[in-house]
Amino acid sequence: MPRVLISDKMEEPGLEILRQAGVEIDERPGLKGEELKAALRLADGVVVRSGTRITADLIENPGKLKAVVRGGVGVDNIDVAAATRQGIVVMNTPDANTFSTAEHTISLLMSLARHIPAADASMRQGKWEKGKFLGCQLTGKTLGVIGLGRIGREVARRAGQGLDMKVIGYDPALAASAAAQLGIETFSSVDEMLPRCDFITVHTPLVEQTKNLIGAKQLALMPKGGRVINCARGGIINEQAVVEALKSGHLAGAAFDVFVEEPIAKDHPFLALPNVVITPHLGAATAEAQLLVARESAQLLVDFLCKGVVRFAVNMGALDRAEMEEMRPFVDMAHRLGLLSAQLGKGPVQTAEIHYRGEIAKRSTRLVTSAFAAGLLERGLEQNVNIVNARMLAEERGIEITEQASMEKGDFSSLIRITLQSHLGGTVLAGTLFGNQYLRLVTFGSHRLDAHMDGVLLLFTHRDVPGLIGHIGTICGKNGVNIAQMNVGRQTAGGEAIAVLNLDARPPEAVIREVASHPQISSVQVAELPPAGQMPPWFA
Ligand code: NAD
Ligand code: MLT
Repeated sequence: MPRVLISDKMEEPGLEILRQAGVEIDERPGLKGEELKAALRLADGVVVRSGTRITADLIENPGKLKAVVRGGVGVDNIDVAAATRQGIVVMNTPDANTFSTAEHTISLLMSLARHIPAADASMRQGKWEKGKFLGCQLTGKTLGVIGLGRIGREVARRAGQGLDMKVIGYDPALAASAAAQLGIETFSSVDEMLPRCDFITVHTPLVEQTKNLIGAKQLALMPKGGRVINCARGGIINEQAVVEALKSGHLAGAAFDVFVEEPIAKDHPFLALPNVVITPHLGAATAEAQLLVARESAQLLVDFLCKGVVRFAVNMGALDRAEMEEMRPFVDMAHRLGLLSAQLGKGPVQTAEIHYRGEIAKRSTRLVTSAFAAGLLERGLEQNVNIVNARMLAEERGIEITEQASMEKGDFSSLIRITLQSHLGGTVLAGTLFGNQYLRLVTFGSHRLDAHMDGVLLLFTHRDVPGLIGHIGTICGKNGVNIAQMNVGRQTAGGEAIAVLNLDARPPEAVIREVASHPQISSVQVAELPPAGQMPPWFA
């Protein structure tokens, strides 16, 4: 029974989904430090909100942990690179908070324009300061939206269609034509857009490139009397620069829902400024969004832990059940080719070029390439290697893995051909699928063959002379080594040939030496593969 740690509060409907799926729940919101580390090691999956930080240190030795689900959008409280390195899938619930956060942004926009929080506070002090809170009308004003993803677009739609504002925007990933269809004029840089903005609102993720995206220089580009809103992540708009611009009178107001440090310090300069509206990270704090997040987080984990389905992963491609079934034999083949590459290649692999040909080239091969990388690395590394971390680990070790695809069929309906290079030279391996499940090694070096890709393989290159195969059979027989399958490939009669024997067990070293001592045998190699049909543990 899989076990799931709930380390931040989860609404009851989410817990119910986990219970119904037979998942064991370890519900301990607020765990920290060593206790959290220990609980993570015992869990197959964990659901966090924004309260728990999953740091590299916490998952250095991850135990059973296979998945982290962030209930919400921002994964900046999770060290995604560290999780990927450990082979842990990180998923989020990207849609659940969109509408609530867009609505909160609009609330902040209107609060800023009409001083609503300050007016409310003043009335509660028994005052009637009608003249003090002169606002600005939004109709006809220009709003610059930076980051036109899910939330940015909803904000743009509400501001444009609902409030009659002119909406302009900047997002490097959105083509101007697509933005125009949304009624948004876009610019090729933030700086170019800022002089046109009465208000700006940021909706990007917090990553290295967006830290301090709006600083003193950018604020200075806005017209005097501009206003800024950050309902995305603390640090995208530089807080100190905003304080300076408010004090100088260049900015007329600022509204922040998110902060560099949360909760903010008691002496945060925003607290002393009258024209700032602040809320304690309330973007997604609606009953509706909380329920959605709980349900979606729980379902993501149930799908992953109970069915192997991956959705909304931020560190690997999505995988649905049907796709997994379709890709199963190719994943198996690529994983075995990776294992063979590690064992039969000439020295440590520096580059591996994978050529997909025929039917397989029509499918998404990303997963298949990761399976190859996992096979290539898994026996040489102490840590757990799987399709989440294999390519990253290969890259970190300087192994370059590239892909090519051609849909034209050659001799086989699907072929995976691997060209390996190391400082000692190159090797080629190719595998194909007979029927729906029979894997065959059809190329090794310059030899063509038809060898089974399972169990222990004894490969020897030799001169094609009579009696040699019988001689090797005798050596195996007298040493109790059973030959399950045998395949011989030769280029010309009497020329260079290769034989592949599938053995029931690894032959003793003495047997390998005896085989190698035959004058017509030029090389002997042994490789071990899983039994036929045994998928890697990371592929349910
Ligand atoms: P999203 O991934 O759908 O959209 C982000 C957009 O930002 C993308 O279109 C991307 O191309 C764009 N972008 C990336 N770098 C950029 C740059 N340098 N300049 C301009 N645009 C850039 O994300 P989303 O769901 O819309 O979430 C947006 C932000 O809101 C995230 O930071 C998220 O964490 C935050 N969020 C906050 C709350 C809250 O409670 N306040 C709730 C939900 C989400
Ligand atoms: C999010 O990233 O979804 C928001 O910050 C909401 C939250 O989790 O509090």
